[in-house]
Amino acid sequence: MCGIFAYIGTRDDAPSVVFEGIKLLEYRGYDSWGVSYIPNIKSKKIMFEKHSGKIGDSFLKTTIKSKIALGHTRWATHGGVSDENAHPHLDCKGEIAVIHNGIVENYQELKVKLSKNNHIYKSETDTEVISHLIEDRLKTSDIKTSVFDTFESLIGSNAICVLDLKTESVVACRNGSPIVVGFDEKGKQYFLASDVPAFLKYTNKVHFLEDGEGVVVSKSGIKIFDIKSKKEIKAKIKKLDWQLEDAEKGGYPYFLVKEINEQPKTILKSSLINKDELDKVSRLIKKSKKIVLIGCGTASYAALAGKYFFSNSNIQSENYGAYEFLPFAKFCNKDTVVIAISQSGETADTLIAIKEAKKYGAKVVTIVNARGTTMERISDIILPIGAGPEIAVVSTKAMTAQFTILYLLSKTVENKYNFAINSIENLSKKLKLWMNQKLFDEIIKLVKEIDMQEHMYVIGKNLNYPGALEFGLKIKETSYIHAESFTAGELKHGVITLIQKDTPCFILASNDIVKNEVLSSAAELKARGGYIIGVAPFESSEFDATILTPDLEDLTIFGNIIVGQLLGYYLGIGRGADPDKPRNLAKSVTVK
Ligand code: M6R
Repeated sequence: MCGIFAYIGTRDDAPSVVFEGIKLLEYRGYDSWGVSYIPNIKSKKIMFEKHSGKIGDSFLKTTIKSKIALGHTRWATHGGVSDENAHPHLDCKGEIAVIHNGIVENYQELKVKLSKNNHIYKSETDTEVISHLIEDRLKTSDIKTSVFDTFESLIGSNAICVLDLKTESVVACRNGSPIVVGFDEKGKQYFLASDVPAFLKYTNKVHFLEDGEGVVVSKSGIKIFDIKSKKEIKAKIKKLDWQLEDAEKGGYPYFLVKEINEQPKTILKSSLINKDELDKVSRLIKKSKKIVLIGCGTASYAALAGKYFFSNSNIQSENYGAYEFLPFAKFCNKDTVVIAISQSGETADTLIAIKEAKKYGAKVVTIVNARGTTMERISDIILPIGAGPEIAVVSTKAMTAQFTILYLLSKTVENKYNFAINSIENLSKKLKLWMNQKLFDEIIKLVKEIDMQEHMYVIGKNLNYPGALEFGLKIKETSYIHAESFTAGELKHGVITLIQKDTPCFILASNDIVKNEVLSSAAELKARGGYIIGVAPFESSEFDATILTPDLEDLTIFGNIIVGQLLGYYLGIGRGADPDKPRNLAKSVTVK
């Protein structure tokens, strides 16, 4: 949560480079933004501008030339949404500027220790304490030592980036919150960011800072250090296969609709990258006595779908929202395989669950999209999903890629890898043909019929149950309509009281063994006045309206879920929501 970006290089428009960079990190928080820079012409203070509100709606005022700048986009934790609480936070003299991602859990304590030095606070944030701590240390130490020692005194998961006027350098540190360093090909420009897409326009050569690593960047170059020992370490530079177009809207009005439309391609791509790792995990599963699938939000629904895929392949497994896993972690042991699912690889609750499972000896396999993440480092095996950068806050293509990997994994354990690859190829082809203007027009027509409703219900069973949960979440997140999802079996046990005349009820169904049961539920809802919308590969007299989806056995849920993504998108647009940045959400939930 919160996006960090810094630039040092040869260009004279560093503030604009940073401004554009943090725009691409806005999915990490959009309560406020700020940019600070050292002008090319000598200045006695660091210059900055900061504002509350979304950066996407704003302009950078400055045209002052500068080669060194940093910027931040904020998801508020300590201190309300205001200009004062926006980052950067400066020391009393205006000679250092700090941006921060994380929470300083001991900031009150640190503030008390600092109080005798009469620092002037301008915000209510935990971050500002960091600026004043560095200011004090600078009286006796250099900038590197001051920043590193200050960082060592912070409790919590944090990443900071500090701009220093005197040495015209940037010092950054990581512990639990991501920072990646970008190196341009000529070795003359450096980028620091919370995530790669922010600087993908300039370079794909990166070093992911590890926890406990710090970096010092100045005109004369870049050095990476172990924060504790202050010893220099060698950069582990990787070239990523992400392309510039992954970080651009490519002609679409929003990243969300671009990413929804990319799915026929991303599903196919994710199926083709992991053969060796899938074999390795499959062997591990065969040897194990217990399999646990965990994740948060959408990833928890992928975990639930995984349980159904596994069961269809005769593999028994359990699943938990990672936030509810701790009471059950004690049942893990060396014969347990925990499969953690995450787009960002930084979700706090999932990380905590993984660490706890490991304490009891479990092996951890992580299915993850972002690269160089904490989850990647603490897991035993990684199954990358290869969906490419997902920039819209709401997860779409990462989720279908997670489903793809889970399906493939279940079939690999069953020794049916080739069958699964062919099925995914067929799925990708069918989705590509189906996701055309006719489908979009049908969904837009439906949206016009139901967009004044405040409550909607989504019903599914078996694999369509996690499908229904995800479908409902997409509607909630992107349109702010209350869309509640249930397994069809739950309906008669209470939920049915909620159905009134014309209440939209989505019935997610497949041509599977529970089809008739689900249609009976549709009939029961219809009898109570519900407006029944079938999302299925068949028509039925129980449906008042139908969105037809590709008929693909277990893989039918992909199309069924995509209908929910598109509905959420069009409902949201119609109701004036921002599809890429829904209110109150952050892409990567790095706090408990
Ligand atoms: O990065 P992760 O996949 O671990 O994130 C988990 C959830 O926070 C995430 O899926 C969230 O539910 C999204 N808002 C879904 O659109």
